Amino acid sequence: MKPLLNNDEFPKLPALDDTTKMNKLTTLTDCLRLNEETVRKVQQIFEEEMRLGLAKNPSRQSSLLMANTYIPELPDGSEDGYFMALDLGGTHCRVIMVHLNKANKEEPLVKYFDVPQNVRLGPGVKLFDFLAKCVYDFMKANDILSKSLPIGFTFSFPMLQKALNEGILVTWTKSFNSPGVVGQDPVKMLKEAIKRREDIDVDVVAILNDTTGTLIQGAYLDHHCTIGMILGTGSNACYVERADRIEKWEENHAGVKEVIIDVEWGAFGDNGVLDFIRTDYDRQVDANSLLVGSFTFEKYFSGKYMGELARVILAHLTHQGILFEGKGSKKLFTKDSFTTSLISHIEGDQMEPVNTRAILEEFDLLMNTSDDDIKIIRYIVHLITVRAAKLVSACLSCLLNRQTRSETTVAVDGSLYKFHPRLHELLVKYTSELVPNKKFKLMLTEDGSGKGAGLVAAIATRLMRYNKQIFTDSRG
Ligand code: GLC
Repeated sequence: MKPLLNNDEFPKLPALDDTTKMNKLTTLTDCLRLNEETVRKVQQIFEEEMRLGLAKNPSRQSSLLMANTYIPELPDGSEDGYFMALDLGGTHCRVIMVHLNKANKEEPLVKYFDVPQNVRLGPGVKLFDFLAKCVYDFMKANDILSKSLPIGFTFSFPMLQKALNEGILVTWTKSFNSPGVVGQDPVKMLKEAIKRREDIDVDVVAILNDTTGTLIQGAYLDHHCTIGMILGTGSNACYVERADRIEKWEENHAGVKEVIIDVEWGAFGDNGVLDFIRTDYDRQVDANSLLVGSFTFEKYFSGKYMGELARVILAHLTHQGILFEGKGSKKLFTKDSFTTSLISHIEGDQMEPVNTRAILEEFDLLMNTSDDDIKIIRYIVHLITVRAAKLVSACLSCLLNRQTRSETTVAVDGSLYKFHPRLHELLVKYTSELVPNKKFKLMLTEDGSGKGAGLVAAIATRLMRYNKQIFTDSRG
């Protein structure tokens, strides 16, 4: 059976021995199916939210930030020199040094650091001291403490930028909630932390989102690339927009023809416009999350939440007597125990459900598992995968529609995209149906927030020489 938008029976309900169970399963899970009309409606609403997000005086508040990144040009291949990047967005942060040159053969130097929960949830000043220490440790380990280097700061949270090197954190997302940073400029806080140390000399020349880094890295590899997308712990996209369409951009930007816009689609629907697709399962995932009531769209499918969504559904079906003889296990009923990587494993099963069985064993569920249970679990995982693919395609198709070039490469990164065995194919199918006239390809672009950030630092350094309008002069 083909995964077409108008195929309302995909994925197919499993044939079970017990027909009453089949009917009950249909009643409890049909809310997760999005038919073609609904997907097209989501697409239209997203388009309208984008328009409102770019408007100067919108008739109502859009749920999309549509933030200006102040990056007015893509790499042109002439980038040259050593650049550093600091990448914060998940439970690990990284410091990177790239050597950009025409040959581009050298692998970047990278050091990973765990960002402990007490740092992610503790006071902002401590978080930035921690980051400055990571930069120091990296420089010391690589014997470059004596060097003065430009650094690009990948800060993968919603920001309103005022310049390429100045932003204001709008809200925390994912697993961060550090007090004292919302409403502040992360560049300033990082610079202050660096200054407090007095033992490193780096200049924070740009702040960027991971989607932006991915787009820039993609454009470095493929000149058709004008969209960056992350399907990882969180989800978001950015794209190259015509400057004259950004009505809200009041500052003087004469001569700038295009600029990258960070959509922040994780928050799509936070104003209620998408409530018609929200299920009780989604409500529960939200209620179980760190930042309740925000980033509802991201919670429908991104890596931090998709496993939890599956768990919530499976637990509910167990309570309803549909799975595991109604018994379940402690682990199944424990919040966040079912990670999104398990979805990829289950989807990776071919004829024999080897991975599914191994997971059930790990969850102490195998002894109460029937063959029907296995079919149901695989079905649920397919259902939420297909819903994820349709939702992402609805939004991606709008970004593609805005591209004026004859073909577009979408640079994609993130663990969900990388490891899910079927997501890529589904995204391509649904998106092609939604924008049949657009030629596009999805390109896995790893390390955008590392190498891409180095490239942004290089572009920033180049632009500083002649285009001051996109910088805040706060060096030092
Ligand atoms: C969250 C952040 C966004 C980031 C995305 C992917 O949605 O708000 O800035 O791009 O996660 O990491």
